[in-house]
Amino acid sequence: MIFLETERLLFRSHESGDEADFVSMHTDAEVRRYVGGQAWPVEKAQSRFREQYLGRPEETYGLWATVFKEAGKYIGCCGLRAPGEELGASLGYYFARPYWGRGLATEASRAFINAAFTRLGLDRVEADVEKGNTASEHILHNFGFKYVRREEIRGRGRIINFYELARGEWQRRRGA
Ligand SMILES: CC(C)(COP(=O)(O)OP(=O)(O)OC[C@H]1O[C@@H](n2cnc3c(N)ncnc32)[C@H](O)[C@@H]1OP(=O)(O)O)[C@@H](O)C(=O)NCCC(=O)NCCS
Repeated sequence: MIFLETERLLFRSHESGDEADFVSMHTDAEVRRYVGGQAWPVEKAQSRFREQYLGRPEETYGLWATVFKEAGKYIGCCGLRAPGEELGASLGYYFARPYWGRGLATEASRAFINAAFTRLGLDRVEADVEKGNTASEHILHNFGFKYVRREEIRGRGRIINFYELARGEWQRRRGA
């Protein structure tokens, strides 16, 4: 299923042909630096792909296979993780390293934020980012996300910052 499309990107369910690129992305220590801290071993990446990504998402929530349209290639996964009891959802994005620095995460984020507030009628979009992930924090800042709180992962010296973008702020910026 195709969930969204932007100028350069297409977001669809994961297919078996995506596995090699998915594995290559998650076995890259630079990609995993602020999302767990370590490259996944190949076996872990393969089993995660087969058990948690293949055929998914089926609708709406989850991380969608992200295809770079001009090359017809899987380059990452992006999406909104399911909201809890309140009306929010958490924005997530992962891109393979050769595709960093081209504004693709910004393009993807814009599309998912717009979908959250229009198509899905949510009240807010959340995001959590490990301290030090400056590129990711920069993207959230550009869209008007506000810092909410932080959590320390005990024993690992890692700090996760939580952000949120309220519908009112999103509307205000669109009108500006
Ligand atoms: C974080 C990530 C998604 C960014 O993707 P990207 O496509 O390179 O991001 P973009 O090109 O859209 O832009 C990022 C913004 O941050 C800025 N930026 C990039 N690297 C930066 C850095 N090291 N320090 C400060 N700003 C930085 C860019 O200039 C850009 O800002 P601008 O739009 O105002 O010019 C990508 O690096 C990635 O997939 N990392 C691994 C997984 C990950 O950490 N995911 C996020 C988990 S919260």
